[in-house]
Amino acid sequence: METVYGGRNGDLQDKKGEMRIAIILGTRPEIIKMSPIIKELKKRRLDFFILHTGQHYSYNMDRVFFDQLKLPEPLYNLQIGSGTHAEETGKMLIGIERVLIKERPDIVLVEGDTNTVLAGALAASKMHIKVGHVEAGLRSYDREMPEEINRVLTDHVSDYLFAPTQKAKKNLLREGIDESKIFVTGNTIVDAVLQNLELAKAVTLPPRLSDSNEYFLLTLHRQENVDKEERLRKIIKGLGLVAREFKTQILYPIHPRTRGRISQFSIQIPEGIKLIEPLDYLSFLRLLSEARLVFTDSGGVQEEACILRVPCVTLRDNTERPETLEVGANVLAGAEPDSILEKAELMLNKERNWPNPLGDGKAGRRIVKILEDKLSAEF
Ligand code: UD1
Ligand code: UDP
Repeated sequence: METVYGGRNGDLQDKKGEMRIAIILGTRPEIIKMSPIIKELKKRRLDFFILHTGQHYSYNMDRVFFDQLKLPEPLYNLQIGSGTHAEETGKMLIGIERVLIKERPDIVLVEGDTNTVLAGALAASKMHIKVGHVEAGLRSYDREMPEEINRVLTDHVSDYLFAPTQKAKKNLLREGIDESKIFVTGNTIVDAVLQNLELAKAVTLPPRLSDSNEYFLLTLHRQENVDKEERLRKIIKGLGLVAREFKTQILYPIHPRTRGRISQFSIQIPEGIKLIEPLDYLSFLRLLSEARLVFTDSGGVQEEACILRVPCVTLRDNTERPETLEVGANVLAGAEPDSILEKAELMLNKERNWPNPLGDGKAGRRIVKILEDKLSAEF
C-alpha cells in the first residue's frame, strides 16, 4: 500500500462534531457520482477522507475527474490497478483494512456496484464499521454480471441503504432488508448533471470531434458485452448498420477494456463509427446533451440520457434502471444487429418529453443530512 497523495480534505481545524467518514472509491462512475456528496461534506465542514483503491488509474479514467470536479485529493491511493476479480477484490480488501485500522472512521461510504464497492463494504463491515451504500437496491437479476453480485452483497452488509427510487427500495424490502435502514434519496447522478451542465455547455470540445453537427454517441464497456468475441462483433455490426442506414456518424469514446478486446479479437470498426479517447466529464456531458441518440451499456449513461432527454438504446438484455424504460427514455436492444437497428429507428421517433424519475438533484444533500442526524446522535 502506498500513499500517493498527501493532504486531508478541507480545513479540519474548525470541523464540526466528531463523526469521521471514509469515502471509498476507485472508478470513473464512482468519482462522478460521489462528487455531490463530497461537495456537501466539504460545505458542512465534516471530517472525511477519500480512500482511492486505484481500480481506475489512467489519467482520462481517474485524475481528470478530480481536477475537473474540483475534488479534494485522496488521502490514500492503494494503486491496486487491473486484474481478475479475485485479484482486484482481494488486494483491495487487504489495503482497505489497513487504512481502516489506522484511520478508524465511524462510517464508510461506497457508491454503486464495482469491485471497489464490494471490497470497501466487506472490509468495513467485518471491522464493525458502519457502511452506507449510495445507489442501493438496483437489481438486474442477472448474476452473469459481476456488478449484480457486488450490489447484492454490498446491500446485505450495509447499515444505511440510500436507494435512488421507490422501486429500488422495494427490491431491498423484498430481500428482507429492514425498512429502517432504507432511505429513498434520489440518485446523485442527477445532482452531478445539474451541477455541471452549464459548465459543460460552455466547454470547448476537442477540435474535429465529429464530422457533422448531427451525430450519435456510443459507450460500450461491460464485461458481458465486450469480453465475448461473438457478442462484441454482433454489436459492432449492428452499430455499423445504424450509421449506414441513418447516414449519421457514431462517436465512440472508447473504454480501455473495449480497446483491448477490439485489438485482441482483430475486429474491424465500420466506417461510420469514429473511435476517440475517453472524455472528461464536461466534454462528455456536452456531447451527450447534443446527441440525437445514445447507444450504451453503461449504467450512468442510461441515467444521464434520461435526465437530459436524449433517447437511449441500451445494448443489453436487461437493465437495473427500469425507471428509464418505463418513462420511455430508454429501450433494450440486446446484441442482435437487426434489433439494434430497429430500436434505433424507434427511439429516433421518440418525443423527448418524458419526466425524470431519478431524483431532484438534492440526493447528496439528503444523504449527508441523514448521516449527520443519525450518526451525530451517537457521539
Ligand atoms: C469497472 C467496473 C464496472 C464499471 C466500470 C466503469 C467492476 C467489476 N467493473 O469495469 O462495473 O462499469 O469499471 O468504467 O468493478 N483499464 C485501463 N485504465 C484504467 C482502468 C482500466 O487501461 O484506468 C483497462 C485495463 O486493461 C483493465 C480493463 O480496463 O484490465 C478493465 O478494468 P477494470 O477496472 O477491471 O474493469 P472495468 O471494465 O473498467
Ligand atoms: N463518462 C465520461 N467520459 C466518457 C464516458 C463516460 O465522463 O468518455 C461518464 C459519464 O458521463 C457517466 C460515467 O462516466 O457519468 C459512466 O461511467 P461508466 O460508463 O464508465 O460506468 P457505469 O456507469 O457503467 O458503471
